[in-house]
Amino acid sequence: MAAPHDARASDTALVEKGRYIATAADCFACHTSPAGKAFAGGYPITTPVGTIYSTNITPSLATGIGHYTKAEFFEAVRRGIGRGGRHLYPAMPYPSYAAITDEDMGALYAFFTSSVAPVEQENRPNTVRFPFNMRSGMVLWNWLYLDTATFHPRPQETPQIARGRYLVDHLEHCGTCHTSRTLLMGPSSAHYLSGSVVGVWYAPNITTDKVAGIADWTDSDLRDYLQTGHALNRGQAAGPMAEVVTNSTQSLTSGDIDAIIVYLRQVPAVAGDEKQSRTSFGLADHPEDAERGLTTSADRGWKVFSGSCASCHQAEGQGINAYPSLTHNSTTGGPNARNLVATILAGLERRSGDSSVFMPAFGSKALWVNRLSDEDIADVSNFVLKTFGNPSVQIDASYVAKRRAELTP
Ligand code: HEC
Ligand code: HEC
Ligand code: HEC
Repeated sequence: MAAPHDARASDTALVEKGRYIATAADCFACHTSPAGKAFAGGYPITTPVGTIYSTNITPSLATGIGHYTKAEFFEAVRRGIGRGGRHLYPAMPYPSYAAITDEDMGALYAFFTSSVAPVEQENRPNTVRFPFNMRSGMVLWNWLYLDTATFHPRPQETPQIARGRYLVDHLEHCGTCHTSRTLLMGPSSAHYLSGSVVGVWYAPNITTDKVAGIADWTDSDLRDYLQTGHALNRGQAAGPMAEVVTNSTQSLTSGDIDAIIVYLRQVPAVAGDEKQSRTSFGLADHPEDAERGLTTSADRGWKVFSGSCASCHQAEGQGINAYPSLTHNSTTGGPNARNLVATILAGLERRSGDSSVFMPAFGSKALWVNRLSDEDIADVSNFVLKTFGNPSVQIDASYVAKRRAELTP
């Protein structure tokens, strides 16, 4: 009687392992559309060549991956080759997943085939433009960029650093957002983790550079950020990073979070143009207040700030409770205004554990929201930048209009 029971116990263990790998690899984020059913696809990914929709990866036989054999599943996830030989676009991060070990792949397959609920939902057609819509072009791309070796620790690596590298480069694919791309959309190795545009957002430099990177974040800052999306007087996760925290990093074991941190600590520094670290900007000095706008009620940006932002972030931007300070904040001290403008336009909603944080979307079309025009947003951003953040970054209304268009293509 013991054998069948043990077999079931080890199946359950395999499925649970697969659930953890799927969480660490954040399959949910891309394969679930807003308010849609888990893993049923339809999530739009905007790329410079058109919009690519993720597909239904529930085990539905009619519309999902129910017919995938284990070998076919491995090919899709690690080689970007779908059932029947269709080349997938690298919007599916198979170049990062290529190194996932056979053992982890087996667990993933067990999870997707036996624990995910089948959902009947047809895939949405992509709007990728010629010539990029010819999937055969991916053969060349794969030849240039796809490294098909599975993961092996390097001789000089401690097991913890190796685990961190496996998580950062492969399962969590942090570089798909934090590493900029070459003209052919391949990752640029010289710019590894040194910051990149992601749609309307900006994924900052997370290398060890003392000015441009995160050398001044302590281990506990990084732990707080990855586990809750918020690190006091450092930064908070909005947009795609809020999804990473919500769907993935908050559920990692503390051992895996520590491995990520230890690994990030030895990533080579990549410098930028910044002169001062983005979390080092304090409140503008008092003698300059008038000039910088803090005390002049004539400044339009101050008016918008005082009407739309100060109730939460407080009059001197110092924040209170769950409302973060706008000084010593990577979003106001960074090298560009993308995350500031994107947060004002899109707002922020993030859940971790039982707590959630919310900031309204001032670019929303909903009637009940206090909507702000491009000009209002440019003015308030300039006020925030010069009073609380990096005063050398200033924007105009057309900058905001471009970001608004990127947000709602
Ligand atoms: C960054 C977004 C993203 C993440 C993360 C992601 N996928 Fe995908 N995936 C896609 C997109 C987009 C497609 C469709 C690509 C295309 O049409 O060329 C896709 C396609 C697939 C396919 C092919 C399905 C079919 O319709 O034949 C499989 C299987 C798959 N993904 C599995 C996974 C698994 C398992 C994970 C987690 C380990 C994962 N994906 C994580 C974006 C993602
Ligand atoms: C889907 C894209 C995406 C992925 C994947 C991603 N990030 Fe991010 N990350 C961002 C964006 C965008 C921001 C800026 C968020 C903000 O300021 O609101 C960010 C911010 C951060 C920050 C804070 C930097 C600062 O100065 O505020 C850290 C640290 C970070 N990410 C680490 C990671 C790590 C480690 C991983 C992998 C485990 C990862 N990210 C994966 C997009 C991503
Ligand atoms: C209803 C309260 C509320 C209002 C009003 C509000 N915010 Fe926020 N804001 C928040 C919360 C909550 C967060 C996120 C805190 C966290 O992530 O831990 C946030 C985050 C931010 C961030 C950091 C975003 C990032 O990507 O890291 C900036 C910058 C910001 N707000 C600026 C503004 C500006 C400018 C206004 C006015 C146009 C404004 N906020 C209005 C509550 C508010």
